[in-house]
Amino acid sequence: MLKFLGFVVILAVLRGCNAQTSAAYLLQSHSLPTDRNFMPTLGNGHLGYTVYGDAIFMNGVYNGGSGNSKRARIPNWLNITTEVCDRFGCATDAEAAVNGTSYEMDLRDGYFRSRTTYNGLGLTLEQRTYPHKYYNRALVYEVVATRNSENAARANSPQFLRLSQHPGNASDAFDFVVVSNGSSASGDFRTIRGRTEILEFERFQPTPQEIYILFSQYLEQPLQLEWPTWQAELRHRIIICMDREQSVALKELQDVLQLSASSLLEKHTDAWHNFWNRDFSIALVGNAPELSQIINAGIFYLANSLPSLSTNQKNEPFYGLSPTGLGRGNLEADYQGHNFWDTEIWMLPVVTHFGFEYGKQLLDYRGRKLEAAKYNARSKGYKGARFPWESAYTGTEVTNPCCPEVAQQEIHISPDISFALQKFLAQSGDWTWVCEKAWPIAAEVAEFVVSRAACEEFRPVCHLLNVMGPDEDHPDVDDNVYTNAVSKIALEFAEWAGGYCGNDSTELFANWRRVNDRLVILHDTELDYHPQHAGYVVNTTIKQADTILLGYPLRYDLSNTHLNDLNIYAKVTRESGPAMTWSMFAVNHLTSKEEWVGHEYFERGYKNYVRPEFKVWSETPLGYEGSANFLTGIGGFLQAIIYGYGGINFVRNNDKISMIVSFGTVPLGVDEVQVNYLRYSHSTCRWVFSNRYSRMNCGARTGPDFYMVQGKKRTLLGRSFNVTLVKGDEPVHITF
Ligand SMILES: *[C@@H]1O[C@H](CO)[C@@H](O)[C@H](O)[C@H]1NC(C)=O
Ligand SMILES: *[C@@H]1O[C@H](CO)[C@@H](O)[C@H](O)[C@H]1NC(C)=O
Ligand SMILES: *[C@@H]1O[C@H](CO)[C@@H](O)[C@H](O)[C@H]1NC(C)=O
Ligand SMILES: *[C@@H]1O[C@H](CO)[C@@H](O)[C@H](O)[C@H]1NC(C)=O
Ligand SMILES: *[C@@H]1O[C@H](CO)[C@@H](O)[C@H](O)[C@H]1NC(C)=O
Ligand SMILES: *[C@@H]1O[C@H](CO)[C@@H](O)[C@H](O)[C@H]1NC(C)=O
Ligand SMILES: *[C@@H]1O[C@H](CO)[C@@H](O)[C@H](O)[C@H]1NC(C)=O
Repeated sequence: MLKFLGFVVILAVLRGCNAQTSAAYLLQSHSLPTDRNFMPTLGNGHLGYTVYGDAIFMNGVYNGGSGNSKRARIPNWLNITTEVCDRFGCATDAEAAVNGTSYEMDLRDGYFRSRTTYNGLGLTLEQRTYPHKYYNRALVYEVVATRNSENAARANSPQFLRLSQHPGNASDAFDFVVVSNGSSASGDFRTIRGRTEILEFERFQPTPQEIYILFSQYLEQPLQLEWPTWQAELRHRIIICMDREQSVALKELQDVLQLSASSLLEKHTDAWHNFWNRDFSIALVGNAPELSQIINAGIFYLANSLPSLSTNQKNEPFYGLSPTGLGRGNLEADYQGHNFWDTEIWMLPVVTHFGFEYGKQLLDYRGRKLEAAKYNARSKGYKGARFPWESAYTGTEVTNPCCPEVAQQEIHISPDISFALQKFLAQSGDWTWVCEKAWPIAAEVAEFVVSRAACEEFRPVCHLLNVMGPDEDHPDVDDNVYTNAVSKIALEFAEWAGGYCGNDSTELFANWRRVNDRLVILHDTELDYHPQHAGYVVNTTIKQADTILLGYPLRYDLSNTHLNDLNIYAKVTRESGPAMTWSMFAVNHLTSKEEWVGHEYFERGYKNYVRPEFKVWSETPLGYEGSANFLTGIGGFLQAIIYGYGGINFVRNNDKISMIVSFGTVPLGVDEVQVNYLRYSHSTCRWVFSNRYSRMNCGARTGPDFYMVQGKKRTLLGRSFNVTLVKGDEPVHITF
């Protein structure tokens, strides 16, 4: 009897493990997007691809000289299709399927699958594809064919499966050589070596990049798998492993092949469950099923381009998040897989919540490219470090040859990076990191800004001339107010960090201070607003959020002038503007307690940008040409929820950092937003907010006690604390 009970318990537990993915994490469709660019893009930080697309990409592998450098396309050998056949031929969907095929993106488990039910033949074919999150050199294709009923085991039932590969055209990015044809007899695998064809910039890349690709099985011809009619199920998998090191790819393939199909999948789904359960998730209570899916998909698509933090073999350094992720980069619309300010300004403030380590790896890419940034500054006659507008393998300028003025003039990218360093410190409270990693970058950026500034001889005034702000419709302007404001923040941060980290170059700091004090911030006293740049005429159309960023995210101006900016620029921002523009209007109105306007912009910032089938983002609204898997838009959207609706932020004041918690509100149709977990310094918080309360339960295992500052009142909280705000409460600062 006891034994029997035990059995029941085990069954129940197993059932729990295999629980169906809830609707908020399951994107199902019976049809594919007409534009296949809007198929899900999958990745694991090392490899990425778009389902059914023609390319696989590897972290940091680019081909092409300077502006022509782009992610080096590896043909999509994982694009495998299985058909069910007998000796007369293979079943087409039209012939055999009554219910057709259902396509599923399972966000919780982290894989894509298609399921075809051949009612006439009494069988189901399930095909699954994913980049493994733990064995991250491995890409997996699996097929499971199942005979559904007794009468399926009849003579007319298919007798074999036919697997064929559709990798797309040959790639011109690599010179491929077959190193081994592989033979199962000798336990050897088909191995291809690829060398990129063109160096990005010889000074910083003396040799081509080399990659090795190993196949568990190579499908030169379609593969036929016998399927005797008495056999209820037939499974098969094809694994492709890639790395810069042949030995690493080989070990990965050997390790993977030791596992049964189910353990291999479980290791992958466990890794994704850990992400959702321990790293980050947002749950909505209320009636917003579509919004829940869009949030989960947004987090998933952003997270799947990031490195896995737990892997079978050590990761290579990470080369950053590009606007359309790791699994894209071949098209111009994919921004060639380059890094822009999108990383620091749009994605990082969300990625930091996934875990500080992800944020560090993103910023570390900039640190590793500091020498190249110094070269960029030097070669144009400036001091310090000038980060390129577009950055790829070497960290030298790789902006598309179409648009040289963008590379020359969008100098805000360098101070943007300093701003992000400061914000990362303000949230992470990592004082060791700031001296080791942030200060060296901030110092060089400050030097660049100072050498780029034009200071007047007879007045204490400095300018940044011939620049382009975020509004790329206006090249070659002077004193773009966003550029100047973020430069001031960068100068102040560098000065502080230098002192904090014990550097004694007081003369240098005084110089940074002088330029910081003198850099102009244009202000029109009559209309009490900030003209976007010198000579800006009110009512002139602009491309995207620019001056309004002085409120959120910069927190440079939170006065009434900022409210006037919001109203003035709202009227003139292009309809076709990118998604995050509206998200920024949303955050700025929400944090200014203009809820209704905030709701409107929030909806405008996602509804027209998300394609229905798999909730993949487009850069531009429906009806306009634009990039697919637009992670930048997702970054803006999730910032609107966390920083706009949620009303939190992180700031540094001298040597103190604090988390600001304001009473916020929730999107329409939502009763409560639950965030697991919010990270702030050494604490981890469960955070829920609604339009009646905002409650944080925070805990830390080690480290100093927290206290809360509200106006003049200071309350000791201890290491673990609960803070609840209700309507009408003033914002509080949590500090330590
Ligand atoms: C990949 O496979 C899908 C499904 O069989 C097919 O529709 C698509 O055209 C293939 N992609 C390429 C690049 O051949
Ligand atoms: C087709 O699918 C629906 C549910 O999606 C199911 O109720 C129905 O039985 C299926 N039809 C056949 C012939 O299998
Ligand atoms: C593949 O190559 C053919 C022939 O060169 C070309 O017409 C086609 O556009 C290519 N397809 C893609 C997706 O690049
Ligand atoms: C692989 O097979 C091809 C064709 O059979 C042959 O020409 C080639 O030399 C083989 N390569 C290696 C490395 O064995
Ligand atoms: C202080 O910082 C400056 C600027 O980065 C650097 O040149 C100098 O060597 C530093 N001084 C010390 C003592 O580290
Ligand atoms: C801007 O346009 C609005 C109408 O959209 C008009 O009322 C206003 O006078 C204009 N302002 C200026 C300074 O031209
Ligand atoms: C915080 O509140 C939770 C319930 O919401 C409670 O379980 C916990 O003990 C409280 N912690 C502190 C430190 O008050």
